[in-house]
This record gives sequence, C-alpha cells and structure tokens, in this order.
Amino acid sequence: MSSTADTPRYPLSTRAAALRSSDVRELLKAAQQAHVISLAGGLPAAELFDTEGLRAATQAALAEGAGVAALQYGLTEGQPALRAALRTHEAGRGIDMAGRELLVTTGSQQALDIVARLLLDEGDVVVVQRPSYLAALQTFTLAGARCVGLDEDAEGARVEDLETLALPARPKLVYLVSPFANPSGASLSLRRRQWLLAWAARHQVLVLEDDPYGVLRTEGQELPSLTALAQEVPGARAWCGRTSTLSKAVAPGLRLGWLVLPRPLAEAAARVKQAMDLHTSSFAQEVAARYLESGRLPAHLARVREAYRERRRALCRALTDAFGAALEFDEPEGGMFVWARFTDGTDTRALLPRALDAGMAFVPGDAFYAEGAPRDRLRLSFTTESPERLREGVARLHAAWRAARGG
Ligand SMILES: Cc1ncc(COP(=O)(O)O)c(C=O)c1O
Repeated sequence: MSSTADTPRYPLSTRAAALRSSDVRELLKAAQQAHVISLAGGLPAAELFDTEGLRAATQAALAEGAGVAALQYGLTEGQPALRAALRTHEAGRGIDMAGRELLVTTGSQQALDIVARLLLDEGDVVVVQRPSYLAALQTFTLAGARCVGLDEDAEGARVEDLETLALPARPKLVYLVSPFANPSGASLSLRRRQWLLAWAARHQVLVLEDDPYGVLRTEGQELPSLTALAQEVPGARAWCGRTSTLSKAVAPGLRLGWLVLPRPLAEAAARVKQAMDLHTSSFAQEVAARYLESGRLPAHLARVREAYRERRRALCRALTDAFGAALEFDEPEGGMFVWARFTDGTDTRALLPRALDAGMAFVPGDAFYAEGAPRDRLRLSFTTESPERLREGVARLHAAWRAARGG
C-alpha cells in the first residue's frame, strides 16, 4: 500500500518495516477473478473437503460433556485427545515419542514462529533450501535471523554444502521442507538425510523438518522422515525436530498443526507459545480429535490423492504437449506443485501480466528467493482445478508465451 499525505507515519519496528511487501501478491489479486484459471494458489481442493465427517465430528465435540472441553480454555501443549490422536498418527510414520514431546500449534506456520522465537537472536544464521517456502523466510527474518540457502538438485537440498558454504556464523537452525518442497517439489534423498543427521549431531545444530506434503504422496517409495531416521543415527535424536499439519490432509481452516521437539526444547517452546496465544483453539482441536478418532481420514486421503494424481498428470501432459523442450520439469511423486523452467530464458515475471490477460495465473519463480533469483522459473499448482480446466490453463499460458515471443 502506498502512503498518502493523509496517512499517519506509524513507527513500525525495524523488523516489521523490513518485511518485503510482495508485488506478486498484488499482481495475483487479479487471479481471483472468476474467469481466471488460477494455478497460482497453494490451496487444497475445496470440493474434496470431508464436510460430512467434520459436521459429525463437530456435533460429537459439542455433545460430549455439553461440549465443555471444546468451549473452555485449554492446555498450552494442546487438548489431550488431539495430542493422543496425533501421537498415533506420527507413530504410523515410524516416529516414537521417547525423549520428545508433541505440541499442538495453530498451523505449522505457528510452529515455525515458535521455533524462531525459541532459538533465534538478531543476526543468527538459519540454513534453508533455495528456493524456499516464503512464509518461513519471513518468519525467520522477522526474528532477526539471516537466511542462507542451500541449492537443490535431484537429491533435494545439497546438504553437504554445509561443510563448504561461507556462513557468516555458526548456524542455529537448519530448516528443510521434505518431501515435496514448496515450491520445487524436491525431496531429500535417504543418503542426504543420513548425512544431515550425522552432521547435526556432530555440530549440535537443530534440524527442523517441515512436512506438510508427505501425506500427499501418490507414487514412489516413502522415505523415513528425518525425525524417524534420527532415532537410528547416534546423537541425532536430540538435534532433530519436526512440524506437520492437518491443513493439507483435512482442512486449512482448522488451523491445526503440531511440533515435535526433544523434551527440554519442547518445554521451553510451550512457554513461548503461552506468551503468544495461551493455546490453540480448543474447539478446533476437539473437532479434529473426534474426526481422527472416527477413522475417516485414510479413506478421505485416498480420495484426495487419487484426484491430485489425475490432476497432476493432466497438467504435466498438457505442459509437455504444449511446450515440448521449451519447458523443463520433473513430474513430482506427490505434493501440490509442479516447478518448471523455461529453457529459452523466458522471464516469468514479465510473462505473468500477459498470462493474467489471457485468463490464467501462476507464481513467478523469483518470488521464492531471498536473493540471486533466476527469472526463468514458475510454480504451477494442480490441486484446485479439474483436468479440463488445467488443460485450458496451459493453453492460455502457451498463448501468452507465444505472444511474448512475438508470435
Ligand atoms: C512448506 C510449508 N510449511 C508450512 C505451511 C503452513 O501450513 P499451515 O496451514 O499448517 O500453517 C505451508 C503452507 O502452505 C507450507 O507450504
């Protein structure tokens, strides 16, 4: 927003003033118009929400004990029923809670904020992957940290570069999204996971894995999460934490995520959370607990994965048919995004207004870099549009691209 002569000049904190306002966000407001096929958002498919299951869960939460647990203040660590259900969910992924605690958070976004407030002082270094999940960069920057990026290749973030990277200081935190990173879709290989955990144990640096997309795997073999692997790498259990969320598996409107940390850190994290919001909505937690206890999640997830697989295939096929060798991408085995690169050097930031005029939207790749951004990448989401609309979206993108190249 631009300030006018009438706008008071509020004395923003240095950190708040330094937060970049995103011009992409402004551009993408146009993507909300009904005629625009938007491949820009990172939203789950709304028509697949299990409304019936959530309605029943809400009724159950309000019926039990006249709904007192759902309506009263709750514990900072989370409602016991939801914590128990989430521990079971995590055990299904091979994660045990020995020496660890699980805290319920207001989305995994709050888990990132808690970890940032827990660990970071002005000037501290956080190692992230490049490109990065933007809201994590913002959270770490707001905490005063400096983010240093690891480049990615076919095996995910090049964690071995931790040995050679010219870091301004010893890192306090390594933050990685895996599998299916946002935006790149990259997944850290098993070899790199093991290497990173051994490094973290040796250097006593906390690794935080952010895993919102693992439940959306449709192909390929699931790798053990960093947190599960840390149980086998000597000394690593104490240096690995994890956050995940119900946003992609159930519904983001619940605003429910969780944070698993080694116990002493979890206890300090609960004190930080208490100062932030006392606790996450008891109402949402009780509804989610009843929902998870109802046993509907596996069938719901199977429906979501099936739809996403069909949509992703339609998008990838349409991209290959339309662009051929002009657009390079790897079809991911899950997640929500395709990350692509124009081999003819097309500047995707310049392409976006043309694509919007043609009636489609994407996110230009440079939005996901703090600095040194390549201009030829774009992120396409395949979750919210039907295969037909995805094909039409690609046709519109192709028309905009051809027009940009002069026909
Ligand atoms: C990598 C990553 N982490 C965290 C989040 C935040 O999710 P939540 O809705 O749980 O706050 C997102 C949301 O898109 C994400 O992509």
